[in-house]
Amino acid sequence: MEYQKITKQPLEQHATKPNLEDYQTIREAFSWDAVSRELDWFDSEHINIAHIAVDAHLQTERRDKKALVWESTKGEVEEYSFADLARLSNKFANVLVNETGIQKGDRVFFFLERVPEIFIGILGTLKAGGVIGPLFSAFGPEAVNDRLADSRARVLVTSPALIKKITDILPGLPNLEKIIMVNRKQAPDFSGALAYEEAMGRASESFEIVKTGKEDYAIMHYTSGTTGKPKGAVHVHGAVVGHYATAKYVLDLHPEDTYWCTADPGWVTGTSYGMFGPWSNGITQVVYEGGFSARRWYKFIEQWKVTVWYTAPTAIRMLMKAGDDLPGQFNLDSLRYMCSVGEPLNPEAVVWGQQVFGMPFHDNWWQTETGAIMIANYPIQDIKPGSMGRPFPGITPGILDDAFNELPPGREGNLAVRPGWPSMFRTYWEKEDLYQSRFKNGWYITGDRAKKDEEGYFWFVSRADDVINTAGHLVGPFEVESVLIEHPAVAEAGVIGKPDKIAMEVVKAFVSLKEGHEPTNELQHDIQKFVMKRLSSAAAPREIEFIDSLPKTRSGKIMRRVLKAKELGLPLGDTSTLEDD
Ligand code: PRX
Repeated sequence: MEYQKITKQPLEQHATKPNLEDYQTIREAFSWDAVSRELDWFDSEHINIAHIAVDAHLQTERRDKKALVWESTKGEVEEYSFADLARLSNKFANVLVNETGIQKGDRVFFFLERVPEIFIGILGTLKAGGVIGPLFSAFGPEAVNDRLADSRARVLVTSPALIKKITDILPGLPNLEKIIMVNRKQAPDFSGALAYEEAMGRASESFEIVKTGKEDYAIMHYTSGTTGKPKGAVHVHGAVVGHYATAKYVLDLHPEDTYWCTADPGWVTGTSYGMFGPWSNGITQVVYEGGFSARRWYKFIEQWKVTVWYTAPTAIRMLMKAGDDLPGQFNLDSLRYMCSVGEPLNPEAVVWGQQVFGMPFHDNWWQTETGAIMIANYPIQDIKPGSMGRPFPGITPGILDDAFNELPPGREGNLAVRPGWPSMFRTYWEKEDLYQSRFKNGWYITGDRAKKDEEGYFWFVSRADDVINTAGHLVGPFEVESVLIEHPAVAEAGVIGKPDKIAMEVVKAFVSLKEGHEPTNELQHDIQKFVMKRLSSAAAPREIEFIDSLPKTRSGKIMRRVLKAKELGLPLGDTSTLEDD
């Protein structure tokens, strides 16, 4: 089906004048240096993300403005002004320095629910010069272990409920010197940990922020590839220039906005746009502790009068499924702008936004590695439903052939970006060769395939690799296969993404069993649970198909391509390297 362009509103009809008034003019005039100068640097070389996000507002009228309004699943509310966050993050920085002895560059990881302490802790760590590593609270022990071991994290901030999942891995982490336990109202039940509340109680409210260099490491987010374990994409303090500029021009944040980003702080969207982007712009944001619930989400928008909403395609598809009548039961008049990221946003969803909320969802594209939005739909442009939009002003993407030469509009190829923007990752942690391998012919190769049309709009086609995108979570098939073959009944396993109406893809595993094991329903459930417990629910195969043997290359590599073709009923392609059996 052809979808019609959604024509832009003339500038004078916008109730709030967009920050990006004219794409072409700003694109031509844009310079990262100029946008950098809007921020409060210590000097031309030194900047600290937490200073920009919080303390820089203290000398302005935003000092007592609400920065964070948090609502728990039980409906309890906590509010923090910029001054509160500054004070509390100073305290946390003192806790780290005085009670754990962390030094500049040390990794401090957060395995914590979506509670205010994760925001305070992250800001405090950055102030102290530490490198933050947020972990998704739904991770299982294997996923947590991979990240803590690889990063050699010195401190872990967690909670009594979550530590229970990972007690077995702790003895195998010699670099992890200290655990800080955020108890909130739970009973403290882990001896040997530093109690957050007590340590914060004795910490001073004043702290001199470490004057980090713009290239000093600040943030690590682990991301999955086709092979090997997840890799730590490392970002620097100077990245905040990118968070700031994109939040201003793409999310179109204005001082009077109430902004809601639904992403969990364990993922890059939750830090770039759930902390640094909005706060560097001095914006009030609201956070809901819980996960998805159509009714609860609409209620949340109504209650807090959310004006700008940043969410994800799977959530939008789930809202569509919940019905067109449901939004009418709430007063959603406050909403003025809606954006989406993380997976392909189908044109139906864009148009549905227009029908139900009176405005489309604005899709945008970026990655853990890019650190900030690269391609986007803006308030002042026509939207072509199904397109990711146009490049951010300071960004030059291209579509390349397999020899990494640029292709003309209309041709499908590798989506690449010219390196050099502030929030670009600086390395994969201790995997410099892998990092370097992502650059070809003067381009950063994203691993996605896409097209560009004559008007400069980009269209996502697929991943170029085997990585599965399920509900916006990237899952490396290798990680899942490695866990599957640890199950006592499993001989071999191959994992692919199977198309799904809501989650876009779900994980499907093909499994051959060891002698003496029968392919029963119970066994299937047991294997699913096994992966869910060790990795996460996103990574657990939604479907398991038992087969006698897996298609392999002569060197013994499982051919996921063949499994995928088989699943989709497509031609098998070149199978000349398949084993003969
Ligand atoms: O494949 C693309 C898909 O998600 C990948 C990035 O995922 P991650 O590193 O977890 O970053 C999350 C922060 C956005 C991309 O390589 N992706 C992201 N946005 C879109 C998308 N696919 C299609 N359309 C999008 N708008």
